[in-house]
Amino acid sequence: VVCDLSGFAAATYNRGVSVAFVPTTLLAQVDAAIGGKNGVNLAGGKNLVGTIHQPRAVVCDVEVLASLSPSELVSGMAEVVKYGLIADPGLLAQVERDATRIVSCDLDALTEIVARSAAIKASVVAQDETEQDRRAILNYGHTFAHAFEVTSSYGALRHGEAVALGMMAAAYTANELGRIDESAVDAHRRALDAVNLPVRASFDLTALEHAWTLDKKYRGGTRFVLLNGIGRPETGVTVPRDALARALGRLAR
Ligand SMILES: NC(=O)c1ccc[n+]([C@@H]2O[C@H](COP(=O)([O-])OP(=O)(O)OC[C@H]3O[C@@H](n4cnc5c(N)ncnc54)[C@H](O)[C@@H]3O)[C@@H](O)[C@H]2O)c1
Ligand SMILES: [Zn+2]
Repeated sequence: VVCDLSGFAAATYNRGVSVAFVPTTLLAQVDAAIGGKNGVNLAGGKNLVGTIHQPRAVVCDVEVLASLSPSELVSGMAEVVKYGLIADPGLLAQVERDATRIVSCDLDALTEIVARSAAIKASVVAQDETEQDRRAILNYGHTFAHAFEVTSSYGALRHGEAVALGMMAAAYTANELGRIDESAVDAHRRALDAVNLPVRASFDLTALEHAWTLDKKYRGGTRFVLLNGIGRPETGVTVPRDALARALGRLAR
């Protein structure tokens, strides 16, 4: 939140001044501090005020993560699992293998995870800074997650918890559409479960649809990032309502 707010201030003060970030949450180290997006939530939706303004530097010191509450640390792992699912199956395996060391804040395990994740985010952003196409893969799980956050009112769900549930919903949706098989759905569940992220929750589709129409990315229909396999994301996918309803039904079980 501090990165987003100070990044927005830096982007607009004097029409833009330099900024460097020293993020102190895992989520910010692997995701929010990198890429230059800075957004502020309004009552009507997530990140409705914002700009893109790259920081001059991002300095990640994993030792500061030791003072985070366990649930804040775990929340950041959702974005790490996301990178594994969209771009790096090896990272997914590493999360499962090192889950215990990660959640107990082992500095070596965290250093590897942060470095690998930051490199993926930076490389995707470098290919497509203004999100014409490729960068949108970073929104995996987030169309669901943002609506989950809005409909459960900010604060009830941490961002990472919403993203974990959003990726499960995306996995079920892709499976309903025949894009991925059950073993790929399982890969989502195993990695998220390994780091104690939620994989089950119940949401009302009508309420989610209302939230989607208020989203700044809404252009005459809700678009999703779905996988055609682990590491094979496709952006801009529209989904029939009955498939969404079935996916949410499975998320609730
Ligand atoms: N701009 C982007 O590209 C981008 C990407 C992902 C997420 N985000 C945004 O980031 C936000 C979530 O980030 P977050 O998880 O960092 O939330 P946060 O900034 O709210 O931090 C979570 C909590 O941890 C505390 N805290 C921070 N560092 C600590 C430390 N070292 N020790 C103890 N406590 C500490 C904070 O005071 C706060 O209470 C969401 O609003 C999300 O929308 C932005
Ligand atoms: Zn996110």
